[in-house]
Amino acid sequence: MQGLVSDRPSALAEEATLAALLRCCVREVAGPRGLVWPAPPYLLLRVAGTLLRARTHGGAALRFDGAPERLEGGAWQPLAVDELVRLVEADLRGHNGEFAGQVAASRDAVAAILRARAEAVPPADPWLASEQALVFGHPFHPSPKSRGGDDWLRYAPEAHAEFPVRLLGVREDVLAEEGDLSALDGMGAAPSGYRVLPAHPWQVELLRPALGAELIDLGPGPVVLPTSSVRTVYAPEAEVCLKFSLDVRITNCLRKNAWYELAGAVELTSRLTPIFQETVVKYPATRWLPEPGHRSAALGTRLHEGLGVIVRESPWAVCSPGVTPVLAAALVLEAPPGDPLAWWSAYVSAVAPPVLELYFTHGVVLEPHLQNVLVGLDGSGMPAQAVFRDLEGAKLVAGRHDLDGLHPEVAGALTYDAERGWARVVYCLLVNHLTEIAATVAGQDDDLLRELWRLAHDLLARQAGELGRPLPLSDLLAGAPLPAKANLGVRWARAADRAAGYVPIANPLA
Ligand SMILES: Nc1ncnc2c1ncn2[C@@H]1O[C@H](COP(=O)(O)OP(=O)(O)OP(=O)(O)O)[C@@H](O)[C@H]1O
Ligand SMILES: [Mg+2]
Repeated sequence: MQGLVSDRPSALAEEATLAALLRCCVREVAGPRGLVWPAPPYLLLRVAGTLLRARTHGGAALRFDGAPERLEGGAWQPLAVDELVRLVEADLRGHNGEFAGQVAASRDAVAAILRARAEAVPPADPWLASEQALVFGHPFHPSPKSRGGDDWLRYAPEAHAEFPVRLLGVREDVLAEEGDLSALDGMGAAPSGYRVLPAHPWQVELLRPALGAELIDLGPGPVVLPTSSVRTVYAPEAEVCLKFSLDVRITNCLRKNAWYELAGAVELTSRLTPIFQETVVKYPATRWLPEPGHRSAALGTRLHEGLGVIVRESPWAVCSPGVTPVLAAALVLEAPPGDPLAWWSAYVSAVAPPVLELYFTHGVVLEPHLQNVLVGLDGSGMPAQAVFRDLEGAKLVAGRHDLDGLHPEVAGALTYDAERGWARVVYCLLVNHLTEIAATVAGQDDDLLRELWRLAHDLLARQAGELGRPLPLSDLLAGAPLPAKANLGVRWARAADRAAGYVPIANPLA
């Protein structure tokens, strides 16, 4: 009995890891080859010649009911993660000696997170609790929780970690900063001739050998709580978020604030301020989190980027009184209370119009995936506001903004051509985000799911009319396939996240 109880985290971790990998297989391995067949109540697919099946609901979100199986010797057997990894390896050409290890590490991390959560107390702040609720992570990623280093659990949001930032003092002659940094100056006192630079304690350990005499260690500073991205933390006393660099691979990339991204955040903040002001007039539910300043030390690229911190406003500061910000990815975990159609209509009306308005009217590409959007819920739990964050993913459409005067690398990193920008908008908003929310709202009810998408279609069609029916939006409403980011493909290729391609999937608006 004891063994069974303590093995529950391992079993749940196996189940979640299998589900995420199988979703990737449907979307990226079998799907593009025409090897996925609906056979109600099952979905069948073939990977490396082996037939697999699972009961599903939730449309493109692929929620599984019961254990996925493989056909072996004429009988259906339960499928295990390690077997599916071997099938993927056999199916995909080439060789990747890391893949199996990353999937296994992610599974082990989920189990460790589940064990740690059982002993930990979630934050009282409901927004922070939602940031720390992503136990299983990205549902379409082969290794959603793989995280480099040995120390990760001490800093894991899912384990409700809480720790003091490390305060460094930067000698003023090597200070690198831009924008409003009053929030950082208030975090501690530095000796004369130095300025306070808060740093992630994990990163300080990783960089310790490279820290020289221009930096002094001022010891622990204010307590902070990690948000869902791990490297961005909330400092409750100062009421700001701090986006740190972490030289650790978290899902797809080393989480480093490149020097041109530090500069880009502040540049985008000043450019987006008037644009959002206009957008709020038209869509009053719209909010965003400005990133008004960054600070680091001009001590070569490694330290400049490794210690670079971006100040970001708190969602509490931008939501109206009585409105509680909640991470969109956390809203996927449980069906909302009350009338599903009214809730979904309020949700889509808050989230989608500003994204489309910004793209078509202002040439701005947001990255509104589930982890970059917070939804403000009113006292009855109805969506009332949408908060967009993470300027690293926000881009300006090439040719629509005057970028003269910017450093070419800064300008390059914050522009996208129109087509690439549109693919990103559609992937993040529809595939990554609304598909998951819709699946949660509808539960097992496929008729309700269809009704939700009909409603979304009508809401978007109305806005398309107001925008003068731009062609890409008309195509979308007519049912053009949606671009789904190929997370398995980019891990298999061991390529940078920005090199990830898309695979087409069916459009639920059709
Ligand atoms: N549905 C999802 N879509 C995208 N990312 C997700 C999703 N669910 C969980 N995540 C996780 O959220 C993180 C998103 O990373 P992203 O690059 O947007 O954030 P960041 O730039 O590091 O930090 P921040 O969002 O604070 O600016 C990753 O760790 C990813 O695994
Ligand atoms: Mg993000």
